[in-house]
Amino acid sequence: MENQTPLLEIKGLKTYFFLDEGIVKAVEGADITVPRKSTVGIVGESGCGKTVTAYSILQLIERPGRIESGQILWRRAPENGPEEVIDLATLKPNSRAMRQIRGGEIAMIFQEPLTSLSPVHTVGDQITEAIRLHRPVSAAEAREQAIQMLHRVGIPKPEQRIDTYPFQLSGGMRQRAMIALSLSCHPKLLIADEPTTALDVTTQAQILELMLELQNDFDMSILLITHNLGVVAETCDRVAVMYLGEVVEQADTASLFNEPKHPYTQALMRSIPILGQRNRGRLDPIKGMVPDPYNRPKGCAFHPRCTQRIAGLCDQKSPLLQTLPGSDRAVRCWLYGE
Ligand SMILES: Nc1ncnc2c1ncn2[C@@H]1O[C@H](COP(=O)(O)OP(=O)(O)OP(=O)(O)O)[C@@H](O)[C@H]1O
Ligand code: SF4
Ligand SMILES: [Mg+2]
Repeated sequence: MENQTPLLEIKGLKTYFFLDEGIVKAVEGADITVPRKSTVGIVGESGCGKTVTAYSILQLIERPGRIESGQILWRRAPENGPEEVIDLATLKPNSRAMRQIRGGEIAMIFQEPLTSLSPVHTVGDQITEAIRLHRPVSAAEAREQAIQMLHRVGIPKPEQRIDTYPFQLSGGMRQRAMIALSLSCHPKLLIADEPTTALDVTTQAQILELMLELQNDFDMSILLITHNLGVVAETCDRVAVMYLGEVVEQADTASLFNEPKHPYTQALMRSIPILGQRNRGRLDPIKGMVPDPYNRPKGCAFHPRCTQRIAGLCDQKSPLLQTLPGSDRAVRCWLYGE
């Protein structure tokens, strides 16, 4: 029987940076569920905490930042053995368990491939090293697997390309090499942070298609961080919308696009042209600035920009993320629930 428990459950995550100037509450309540074999998108304006959330999952937050509270429940199901739940938020960044999970069970690809590919080693050396770090195979076997992986991501003549350096590859080929590197250990979750923004539109589409194909082959889930709502509509099963460090809405993609509930999601939908949909008239930029993360507004973080705010309530009390009755969608807004 298929395992129905979610692969990853982030609950009430808070990640802060303690600077001399004050505390940056970069993530101030992230609740995100990633079911098995699914693609979940995280969207929201620049600075809303998407990357910090991703880094928190992998314990990549560096001082003066730290995970302040919340849980990051990772469910690993060994081939034959009972399911094990690990709270990644409690693991030490350099612990053996965390190093095993990072790169082995959860892989991440970044916006700019040169962040994760070393310029001074060949593509092949980097992939074989990653394979041997997580699996007991010989150097020759690892090289063979690396060639297969490069072939799988559509790099032509992988037997030759394996010995090239990242700078010798085009942007699109580099992105493919990075995907090969991240997937060489067959992770259960791939976190992709703006993986295609640096590429031209055609290459973007090819890379996204490739990720979805590999997802099928490897039974893996994808957490896709993107500004592009068109990409979300085409690739994601579920979406989490973030605003100022909080997840303000979470829903399946169709429901979110057909009937956005949170005023911020509604504004986001109106402000961004969606690929493949006829332009529904004028695009409205969301009014007002994203507030300073040092000084979060009292009450609902969106209230200074919200056209539907309830005076005396929204500017005083912070709403909780609530599941809407009879659905598996959740909204953080006083317009819904008590
Ligand atoms: N190392 C750091 N030190 C201090 N503040 C940080 C650090 N990293 C991130 N922040 C702050 O945390 C907040 C969230 O940043 P984050 O990078 O997660 O945003 P994002 O949603 O990924 O934005 P973008 O879409 O631009 O990538 C921002 O206010 C940012 O300035
Ligand atoms: S809680 Fe109030 S201010 Fe916040 S989004 Fe809902 S209606 Fe707007
Ligand atoms: Mg980011």
